[in-house]
Amino acid sequence: MTKEKTLYTCSECGGSTPKWLGKCPHCNAWNTLVETVAAPAMGKNRYGSAQHVGLNAAQPVAPLYAIEATEVARTPSGIEELDRVLGGGIVEGAVVLIGGDPGIGKSTLLLQALDALHRAGLPTLYVTGEESGAQVALRSRRLGLHQSQVNVLAEIQLEKILATLEATQPAVAVIDSIQTVYSDQLTSAPGSVAQVRECAAHLTRAAKSSGVTIILVGHVTKEGALAGPRVLEHMVDTVLYFEGDTHSSFRLVRAIKNRFGAVNEIGVFAMTERGLKGVTNPSAIFLSQHSEPVPGSCVLVTLEGTRPMLVEIQALVDGGGPNPRRLSVGLERDRLAMLLAVLHRHAGVACADQDVFVNAVGGVRISEPAADLAVMLAITSSLRGKALPKGFFAFGEVGLAGEVRPAPRGQERLKEAAKLGFSVAVVPRANAPRQPVEGLTIHPVERIEEAMEVVRGLT
Ligand code: TYD
Ligand code: MG
Repeated sequence: MTKEKTLYTCSECGGSTPKWLGKCPHCNAWNTLVETVAAPAMGKNRYGSAQHVGLNAAQPVAPLYAIEATEVARTPSGIEELDRVLGGGIVEGAVVLIGGDPGIGKSTLLLQALDALHRAGLPTLYVTGEESGAQVALRSRRLGLHQSQVNVLAEIQLEKILATLEATQPAVAVIDSIQTVYSDQLTSAPGSVAQVRECAAHLTRAAKSSGVTIILVGHVTKEGALAGPRVLEHMVDTVLYFEGDTHSSFRLVRAIKNRFGAVNEIGVFAMTERGLKGVTNPSAIFLSQHSEPVPGSCVLVTLEGTRPMLVEIQALVDGGGPNPRRLSVGLERDRLAMLLAVLHRHAGVACADQDVFVNAVGGVRISEPAADLAVMLAITSSLRGKALPKGFFAFGEVGLAGEVRPAPRGQERLKEAAKLGFSVAVVPRANAPRQPVEGLTIHPVERIEEAMEVVRGLT
C-alpha cells in the first residue's frame, strides 16, 4: 500500500501544517495539532470516491414530505437488557460505541451478545486486539458458550480488519477495542487521538457502505476525555456507557446518544461467575439492608429511562475546620454545594464549617434534579443524628428560592415505592395523588422549610 502524505491539522481552526508544531501557526493555539491523512489529489475526498461516503454530491434535492420514511429494521440481540438500551435491537449498518472502565464487563457482554446473535442466524465477527484468541476462547468457556460459532480475529491493523470484513461479510462485528487498532497511514501510536479517530472513521464508512453493524469498544482513560470514547461520540449512531462500582456485582448500561431510540434508557445487569445476567426488576437493588433506620440515610425514587428505581442516598456531616470538604459519589458536586446553600438560607440548616459527604449506594450515577429533596433530608438527618422513620422515601427538585418542584411521572414513583413496602413519603405538592394510595402516608410540601418541619414531626 502506498503511503499517503500525513499532515497535522489544528482541531481549533482547521488549518494544517506538514510538520508537528507545539503551536498552531494559523491561530496560535497550543497543542491542538493532530495528525491526519492528507487528501489525495484528483478532487476525491480523503476517503476515496464520493459515493463511498454515502453522500454523493449529485443526489437530487427533495422536499421532506416527498422522502419516504422507512422504519429501521432491528434484530433483537437476545439479551433483553441490552436490547432495551439499544432501542429494541441491532440496526443494520449502525455503529455503536460502548465505553466503560477497564474490567467492568464490556468484553463479557459483547461476547455473550455475539453468541446470541449468531444463534439467531446472524453471522458475527469478534475482532480482539487486547486478548489473544485463546484468551477469548477461555472466556467463552467460562461463560458456558461451549460450541460457540462466533468467528474470532486477533488483529489490530485497520487495513487487515477492513479486508476481513469485506471477505467474510459478517452482519455484526465487534472491535475490542478501538484504542488498540492502528492504521498504516498514520505514524502516531495506536490509542492516540489521531489513530482512534481515523480508524473509527474508516470503520464507520465500512458499516454504512456494507450494512454491517459495528460495535466499537472504548476504554475510558484515566484522564477521561483524551483519546477515550468521547472523541468518537459525534461519529457514531449510538453511545452506551457502562456504570457501576466494580466492587459490587451490579452494572448499568446507559444510552447517552441514540439515533435509533430513546436516550437515558438503562439496562441493568448482575455480574455472575457465568457472565452478565439481565436484572429485569431492578427497583430495589440499590438499597442497603439496614435492619433499623440509621441517621444520614434517605431513600430516593429515581426514574431511569422508563423505570422507577429506589436508591439509597447516604450523607455524612462531620468534623471539618476552616476548609470544609464537600464530596459526592454518584451525584453532582456543584449541585451539592448549591443544595447546602439553599438549606442554609431557607431552612436555617448550617453546615458551613463541616465536611459533607454524599453517596448514592451501589455505584449508580444520578443526574436528575428530582434527587435534591432526598439529598437534603439525608444531610439534615446526619447533622441532627436522627434517623428518618422506617419505610420513608422522598423525591423532588429544590430550587434556589427554596421551592420544591414536581418531578416527572410522580405517580409511577409513588406506586413503585408502595409496591416495595415503603409507607411514608415527603413529595412535591404537585406530585401528590388525588386519591390516597393504599399503604402510603404522603406529606405534600411546597417549600424546603415545610419539608424540614414535616420530618421534624416524624422523627
Ligand atoms: P471484561 O469483560 O473483561 O471487562 P472489560 O472488557 O470491560 O475490560 O470483564 C472482566 C471482569 O469480569 C473480570 O474482573 C472478571 C469478571 N467476570 C466475571 O465475574 N464472570 C465472568 O463470567 C467473566 C467472563 C468475567
Ligand atoms: Mg475487554
